[in-house]
Amino acid sequence: MEQNEDLNQFDIPIAKRTYLSNSNPLILKKILIISPFLCLLFTIFAFRSIRNIEQSPLISFNSQAKRNHDHRILGHLPYNEIPKEKLVFIEPYIEVHIDMRDSLLNMKEEAKKDGIYLVFLSGYRSINLQNDIFYSLKSIRNQEATERARVSAPPGYSEHSTGFAIDIGDATKRETDFEKEFENTDAFKWLIKNAAKFHFKLSFNKNNKFIDYEPWHWRYEGSIEALKVFETSNRGL
Ligand code: DAL
Ligand code: ZN
Repeated sequence: MEQNEDLNQFDIPIAKRTYLSNSNPLILKKILIISPFLCLLFTIFAFRSIRNIEQSPLISFNSQAKRNHDHRILGHLPYNEIPKEKLVFIEPYIEVHIDMRDSLLNMKEEAKKDGIYLVFLSGYRSINLQNDIFYSLKSIRNQEATERARVSAPPGYSEHSTGFAIDIGDATKRETDFEKEFENTDAFKWLIKNAAKFHFKLSFNKNNKFIDYEPWHWRYEGSIEALKVFETSNRGL
């Protein structure tokens, strides 16, 4: 009989069960009052837990791994070599991507109108030439790769191979060519003020952890192709 009663209980729809009816209504009221505070406490706890997880060494490692997915070597991003048919000479020894020729020459002309004389030092460099610049000079100067990479990109990792990079000097201060002191020249000051009008941007500024500051090295971002080439770099990863 007792067993039957127990079984009967399972036939009663949940909403009609009455076992709460014996509870003290005051307890229910208290539960209702404190439940928002419990929710708040739970939310704070959950938020702090998520933050702790994000700061854990494992997650930091994963973020670092994601950043490394852009295939940098010693801080340099990989770049394809520009197809030959897209290269044009702007001076006897300076070739650049055809897309940036007009803008670059306009910039030089506009600077001249302001009494500033820009000189182009290096434009397109093949991956083969970059190979020599990186390894031959590394050997001559007895440098380790990390040290060499502070001033020169490994072959296949130079913006110069894209045809969209140009090294610029001050024609009236040639002693500052490829030197940090170039930043004190009128040419550099003019570039900082005006280069963006011509879609040029300084590539290696002072906050780069792996590559030395290069006030003379500018890259062109005035076409979709150029923006695609420098997309990863501009994402700042
Ligand atoms: N000097 C820059 C980093 C290059 O070699 O491309
Ligand atoms: Zn350069």
